[in-house]
Amino acid sequence: MTLRTFSLRTLLFLGLWQSGKRSLASAPEQLEQPKKIAVIGAGIGGTAAAYYLREEFGPVVKIDVFESGTVGGRLATVKMGDYEYETGGAVIHPLNLHMKQFIEKIGIPQRKDVPSKMAIFDGKELVFEESDWFIVNFIRMIWRYGLGFVRMQMWVESILDKFMRIYQYQQYGYSFSTVEKLLHAMGGDSFLTLMNQTLEEAMMGDGFSQAFINDIIAPITRVNYGQSVRINGFVGAVSLAGTDSGLWAVDGGNKKVCSGLLYHSKSDLIPAKVSSISMKTRPSKRGSTIPYYELNYVGESGSAHSLYDIVVIATPLHQGKSDITFSGFSPPIPTHYPGLYHQTVATLVHGTLNVSYLGTAEAASEFTVSEILTTDSKGCAINSLSSLDPVHIPDGYERPPASHPKVWKVFSSEPLTPKQLQQMFLSYDSVSETPWLAYPSYRPPHRKTPPFVLHNRLYYLNAVEWAASAMEMSVISARNVALLAHHRWHEQTDKIDQEDLHMRLRGEL
Ligand SMILES: Cc1cc2nc3c(=O)[nH]c(=O)nc-3n(C[C@H](O)[C@H](O)[C@H](O)COP(=O)(O)OP(=O)(O)OC[C@H]3O[C@@H](n4cnc5c(N)ncnc54)[C@H](O)[C@@H]3O)c2cc1C
Ligand SMILES: *[C@@H]1O[C@H](CO)[C@@H](O)[C@H](O)[C@H]1NC(C)=O
Ligand SMILES: *[C@@H]1O[C@H](CO)[C@@H](O)[C@H](O)[C@H]1NC(C)=O
Repeated sequence: MTLRTFSLRTLLFLGLWQSGKRSLASAPEQLEQPKKIAVIGAGIGGTAAAYYLREEFGPVVKIDVFESGTVGGRLATVKMGDYEYETGGAVIHPLNLHMKQFIEKIGIPQRKDVPSKMAIFDGKELVFEESDWFIVNFIRMIWRYGLGFVRMQMWVESILDKFMRIYQYQQYGYSFSTVEKLLHAMGGDSFLTLMNQTLEEAMMGDGFSQAFINDIIAPITRVNYGQSVRINGFVGAVSLAGTDSGLWAVDGGNKKVCSGLLYHSKSDLIPAKVSSISMKTRPSKRGSTIPYYELNYVGESGSAHSLYDIVVIATPLHQGKSDITFSGFSPPIPTHYPGLYHQTVATLVHGTLNVSYLGTAEAASEFTVSEILTTDSKGCAINSLSSLDPVHIPDGYERPPASHPKVWKVFSSEPLTPKQLQQMFLSYDSVSETPWLAYPSYRPPHRKTPPFVLHNRLYYLNAVEWAASAMEMSVISARNVALLAHHRWHEQTDKIDQEDLHMRLRGEL
């Protein structure tokens, strides 16, 4: 999707990013360093946590990363024919500065850009189709929605401007013990309100029309989060930012960032499933007791256990996502927090599209739309349909028109039936289905979000997904948790949960 936006702030914040500096060299060394740290999960969150933990605790500590599935987690590819394609997390925003910094550090380029074109399908026909000409799109949108469209970009931009503050805070070493405190530091009460109301309520409150929300906003939340405009306003804004220009992906597949971070963090990957965590204590030199943690895990060679000073959980503690049990904790830590993850089935099909399914009279050989979004109407069994490009774009690649057999990706909340596939495709020769428990099922107003700190030295990264689930959110959370773990270990409370950072750091620029 390319709904172009003005991005002066890109330059502005990239400048800020370069000049930000970390003023932590004077950490008091009164306590001994941790000897062993465990990270559970090798998705983008866990591998980024390993990377930042290494940065905080130095070269000596041993870092073990447990992974029961595949490195990358929800960043995954599948091979169809000669090429690989993304099935999970696909696009990255140009202002996702941590992800940008990672690929520079690891030395992988961005995937070559192939221009795309968007249309909106209401279950019967295409109600909007982007033209090759920006000015034509612009006039069509103004015609239908007045300035709603321009105002939407400004609305997202004002939220993104506040969001960007987190990079400066983290650069200076500040951390937060809860998702609410992190959001509050970025955008004050307005961010908490945003997280606690639906996107629809938030936008109606700001004067957007119901028609604009139904026709334009709902298709965007459906493609990005498989859900309606009743998701929370914060994740809604993240979703809308996904229509900015300059979205990118990692050459060779986004999951390459995870293996690259593992390598750079010099941590050890343990291919095993952690089944339980128990709290133990030992006496300290000063006479108090110090907690540490025993992890029980099951790998190929059977079950085993190890002891750790610090543990970071980098997988959702929700039904269907993990089943870790906790013992010896008071208050107890639940295996599953309340709230469910939403199913999005990613079906990749190599075949020839039936363009009549989209109710268009255009010839397939002329049909070059690559992103088909859908409105929230009963006739729509799918959330989106996109023409996929491989994770590595070969030289001279041109996206074929719909008359050619090629790879399409369908997002739906239920698996597609053979009958549905036969309606959508004139013919197909291979199908790959990945049923993801993809992101939280957002139902604001929100009960209390799980904390980042589950116990003294036990941290939970994926709490952040209840604000918004995205690669960069997991990475921001990873850095926050690494900073928290460091400051709490060294009892540096002046770097945790500070108020008014925005005003206080203003003079530092
Ligand atoms: C279909 C889809 C599309 C998406 N699109 C985008 C997008 O375009 N842009 C974007 O930014 N985000 C997107 N997202 C969201 C993004 O992919 C996720 O927010 C992000 O990848 C989460 O990373 P994570 O490391 O926090 O969690 P995960 O990737 O889920 O990693 C957790 C890991 O922990 C492992 N694990 C679980 N339990 C245990 C255990 N007991 N022991 C050991 N290991 C365990 C799992 O196997 C998994 O590998 C999308 C997600 C999906 C599913
Ligand atoms: C293509 O889609 C149209 C509209 O849904 C349908 O009537 C037709 O039967 C489909 N074609 C094939 C070959 O299935
Ligand atoms: C969200 O709203 C609920 C119910 O209205 C309230 O209990 C909760 O404290 C609110 N949370 C935040 C973060 O404002």
